[in-house]
Amino acid sequence: MRLKDKVAIVTGAGRGIGRDIALAYAKEGAHVVINDVDPATAEATAKDVRALGRKSLAIAADVAKSADVQRMVATTIKELGTVDILVNNAMKIVPGRLEKLTEEAWDTTVNIGLKGTFLVSQACAQHMIAQKSGAIINIASIAGLFPYNFAGAYSVVKAGMIMLTKLQAMEWAPYGIRANAITPGYIRTPGTEGMYADPVIYEGRRKGVPMGRVGSGEDIAGPAVFLACEESRYTTGSVLGADGGQAVGYFLTVPGRRFSGGSID
Ligand SMILES: NC(=O)c1ccc[n+]([C@@H]2O[C@H](COP(=O)([O-])OP(=O)(O)OC[C@H]3O[C@@H](n4cnc5c(N)ncnc54)[C@H](O)[C@@H]3O)[C@@H](O)[C@H]2O)c1
Repeated sequence: MRLKDKVAIVTGAGRGIGRDIALAYAKEGAHVVINDVDPATAEATAKDVRALGRKSLAIAADVAKSADVQRMVATTIKELGTVDILVNNAMKIVPGRLEKLTEEAWDTTVNIGLKGTFLVSQACAQHMIAQKSGAIINIASIAGLFPYNFAGAYSVVKAGMIMLTKLQAMEWAPYGIRANAITPGYIRTPGTEGMYADPVIYEGRRKGVPMGRVGSGEDIAGPAVFLACEESRYTTGSVLGADGGQAVGYFLTVPGRRFSGGSID
């Protein structure tokens, strides 16, 4: 077990990628705090962690609200004694064209994704600095590397999370805290099911991935375990792709596609 008796907080872990990371951590021996703004899904994931024989607390809290964040981290330390690992995963995407995007839509995405990551990291780091160890994993996105058009503030937030990760790595390395980001590509989750349920969208996206498939939450859980455990002890400030090759295959050539100079089989 690579995370035996470590204490982890995973935000937005009621469903999707956060849930899969929480379960993977539990399988590696960690006790996991399940945060979500939705108390019912948080409790359901916590129940599944407990079924794996590990301790779990479901903490309903909005990561964009500092009072909620303070309560969440204080409860974790009171009930489980410490916090060793933090995964900033909670997010809400509010799509729209830039020229029509409302202030509220912008604020929602920025407050959850960027301010939330700052607030939860800060609250945990104050404890991690005192204990001189910790691992922070920020779930960014390939959309933080390439612009995701019509997705409102999403790409800006994800790019900001990547820079925040690098700042955290620099400022907190002297205290034994590592901070790394993961940039998932196309991942099928409850949050994206509305898109992938459409076979035309699904096929179009699948073909754009060099590995030829849309990913799952478990494809992100593996890298999240690696970045939390001792095996990555000399890795900090890194941005780890988990995208089936999408970032390197930006100009993907598909057999059968026509070129101006001819076509390939
Ligand atoms: N699915 C993808 O294709 C994909 C790709 C790249 C990056 N990501 C990132 O991975 C993460 C998880 O994505 P997902 O597809 O599993 O999302 P999802 O929508 O399925 O799950 C997100 C969870 O976060 C919770 N949440 C929302 N606002 C919150 C708040 N203020 N406080 C606490 N919890 C809150 C939701 O209730 C939900 O349970 C996100 O950061 C997302 O940007 C996803």
